[in-house]
Amino acid sequence: MILVFGSINMDLVAEVATIPRPGETVLSPSYAHLFGGKGANQAVAAARVAEPGLVAMVGCVGDDAFGRMCTANLAANGVDVSAVTPGEEPTGCAFITVDVTGQNAITVASGANLQPTAGAVPSEFVDTHTIGVFQMEVPFPTSLEVARRLKACGGRVIWNFAPVPPGFGRAELDMLLDVTDLFVVNEIEARSAAAILGVDDQGLEADARNIASSGKATCIATAGERGAIAFTPAGERYLAPALAIRPIDTTGAGDTFVGVLAASLGAGAEIAAALNEACIGGSLACQAKGAQAGMPDGAALRAAIG
Ligand code: RIB
Repeated sequence: MILVFGSINMDLVAEVATIPRPGETVLSPSYAHLFGGKGANQAVAAARVAEPGLVAMVGCVGDDAFGRMCTANLAANGVDVSAVTPGEEPTGCAFITVDVTGQNAITVASGANLQPTAGAVPSEFVDTHTIGVFQMEVPFPTSLEVARRLKACGGRVIWNFAPVPPGFGRAELDMLLDVTDLFVVNEIEARSAAAILGVDDQGLEADARNIASSGKATCIATAGERGAIAFTPAGERYLAPALAIRPIDTTGAGDTFVGVLAASLGAGAEIAAALNEACIGGSLACQAKGAQAGMPDGAALRAAIG
């Protein structure tokens, strides 16, 4: 199974001509409530392409309307929500501006996402067949505890280092990489991780190679329209192209990449094929507004792979 331990948000999205700089105010004609949260997005992306019943989410929402809507949305997408619990804080909210090129800027108010506990993960979700998917929108020590439990049972760990927490240090990154099989970063996150490891900036490929060679995890770095690159700790290198598309909204593209990657590996794919499918999934996700609307189902993904 695929166990996603992470965040669940309601995204409040405004379209703008340009994303405001610090101190600037810009106007947008309206805004939309859309389902989001890196954890929830990754769970939905995985569930859309995986066999039914294989994806479960563990996280917290508020005891409020957004929380009920987000939980119902996960369930409607085929995600097991039996371990999605109401916390005492309000449901997490992400305040997102999207510009005319499809680029975005996001501020997340964590709320209930600060409240998941490792004890909330049912033991039947944790075994040698489980692929655990983690991000950085819930407290790191809690995620680490769940990841360690999963590794102790022989499961696999995919860790999306997003968003990079301020002040995240070498000791914490070493602990994270120590329990991680696949470490997924975008260009900014790759640079942050490499800098934490003390590596000078020599570009994305060098960052990914250096991160992988620093420990036991394969590093996968996504590069938007340039696709993705992966390095194993032994130095094996894999490349996958993105689809040539005109992006409408890139929100959730990275989450789709991670979810499809997990589903693909869970279905038995090797890293090269899984990387390719994840890149295509991430590209397709950019063709609709919002994090989840463009995520492909299995048929759409197969059609795009050709
Ligand atoms: O990765 C995109 C997601 O980041 C959004 O859905 C938002 O909720 C934030 O968590």
